[in-house]
Amino acid sequence: MSARPRILLTRRWTSEVEHYLSQRFDVTLNEGDVPLDAARLRAAMTGFDALCPTVTDRIDRNVLSAPDRRVRLIGNFGVGFNHIDVEAAREFGISVSNTPDVLTDTTADLAVALMLMISRRAGEGERELRAGKWTGWRPTHMMGQSLAGKTLGLIGFGRIAQSTARKARLGLGMRIAYNGRRRASAAVEAEHHATFIDSVDELVATCDVISLHCPGGAATHHLISAERLRRMKPSAILINTARGPVVDEAALVQALTERRIWGAGLDVFEEEPKVHPGLLALDNVVLLPHLGSATQETRTDMGMRVAQNLEAFFAGRPLRDPVA
Ligand code: 8YV
Repeated sequence: MSARPRILLTRRWTSEVEHYLSQRFDVTLNEGDVPLDAARLRAAMTGFDALCPTVTDRIDRNVLSAPDRRVRLIGNFGVGFNHIDVEAAREFGISVSNTPDVLTDTTADLAVALMLMISRRAGEGERELRAGKWTGWRPTHMMGQSLAGKTLGLIGFGRIAQSTARKARLGLGMRIAYNGRRRASAAVEAEHHATFIDSVDELVATCDVISLHCPGGAATHHLISAERLRRMKPSAILINTARGPVVDEAALVQALTERRIWGAGLDVFEEEPKVHPGLLALDNVVLLPHLGSATQETRTDMGMRVAQNLEAFFAGRPLRDPVA
């Protein structure tokens, strides 16, 4: 009989991490890698000591309140945790951890990739070529816009936003502005040559590229509204690598269809994996299937970060990355 803590990974992780965890814990894998429904998540609360979910699992009050629950730790795979009712977890005495730091640069890379793809019409060009519609080089063919000297407006100014700022400023020659819940320290602003803009309305109206880096959840739901889309410049580019519901997707479809903004690069959607059909019909968007942190290196680092939290927790030490 094993006294090792029982751990459920709700999705497949990289083989390195699955192997590492299996050596140390009594691990149950989701062999089929199909998202677990609420009933299975609720049942898991009574069968395991720790649950390791991802963004595809809704860990709400209903799941957390399972009777005779055994789970004492929710070790989330991912930095964002708006799919977990942290308040309810706290109430039930369940700890929650996440995986910050390890995916910062990888996610920022993707934000920059989307900026370049939209400003240089890379998706559109690729589709033209694959469709056999490219008639050859010409001086006025599919002209994009240069990013050098343009202003990147970041909404949220945490780790990923700051990494995006660094890459955009040093790599692309962009100016940096930001809005966040709190103003950053003078030292952080100086490091990024970043200007704080006190209102989101002003930021969206004055910046050339608007990139979202705030958490998901009620406080940021439809932060990019029809009204704010109307304030943007006709040349504006919207990038979302944060959470889909931060943008009113239907309003965005309308703004893009009417060419009221230049384009949008989206890695996240309101109802993943569903994507608004209006977006699929548009040329001035790049749509990625939530790939922000999807490199082999980073996905292993994320899993190992969960492992560190599990090890600390079951050794009776403080969590490395507590969120509750
Ligand atoms: C993850 C993310 O892949 O970490 C996050 O918050 O958005 C992604 O990078 C995913 O959420 C894993 O849960």
